[in-house]
Amino acid sequence: MEDVVISLGGSLVNPGGIDDSFLHRFSEMVNSLKERYRFIIVVGGGRLARDYIEMARKRGESEYFLDMIGIMATRMNAMLVKSYIKNARFSTDMRDIFSGNVVMGGTEPGHTTDAVSMLVAELLGVKSVINATTVDGIYDRDPKLNPGARLIDDISYGDLLSLFYLNSSGAGPNQVLDFLSIKIAERSRIEIRVINGRDIDNFISAIEGKHFRGTRVHGQ
Ligand code: UTP
Repeated sequence: MEDVVISLGGSLVNPGGIDDSFLHRFSEMVNSLKERYRFIIVVGGGRLARDYIEMARKRGESEYFLDMIGIMATRMNAMLVKSYIKNARFSTDMRDIFSGNVVMGGTEPGHTTDAVSMLVAELLGVKSVINATTVDGIYDRDPKLNPGARLIDDISYGDLLSLFYLNSSGAGPNQVLDFLSIKIAERSRIEIRVINGRDIDNFISAIEGKHFRGTRVHGQ
């Protein structure tokens, strides 16, 4: 059975309150595809992580400590996602990915759940990762600031990394993907499919490797 690695943005789980309707639709999708695929779902921290980290940062906590708070938030979201999916397991141990149908959050300080999803794919030898978020993909400029921003449907690792340097904040285009995640994808030639997770039909197309709306990040 084929392994499918999904990085599920925390903003899909909790955009400001738990999105029960999304979680139902997402779990129905996973259940409907379970005969064909084994899922490894890495869940982000979203609002929960940001709010707690921001406040603790003001208190003067170290970045390492803030990352630990972030990991806790990702795990809380992951435990919630697990509760929607039949026969899925929550785990904090990378070794559990080999048995499939696992939902996890972050692992160690110093990176994000996007990077974790790339490491999971590396370890399993999976050649693509679905990055589900609340925007339609990666834009050439921040669409919130530039109405003329264009959705990039196809981009190489190198060109995307160059976009990071062009962006003055250094945080990358829309911060959809972080630098480390792209570097890990590049070294192992893992295709990243960035999609809006709320469009379930499109989600399924991305999983099945069919044409999808979003951004495909890949080698030359
Ligand atoms: P996220 O993966 O949600 O980070 O983890 P993010 O990409 O910054 O969030 P979004 O996608 O914009 O919503 C939240 C935080 O948890 C810590 C980091 O501080 C991260 O910013 N974290 C997460 C780790 O330190 N290690 C991990 O493995 C995962």
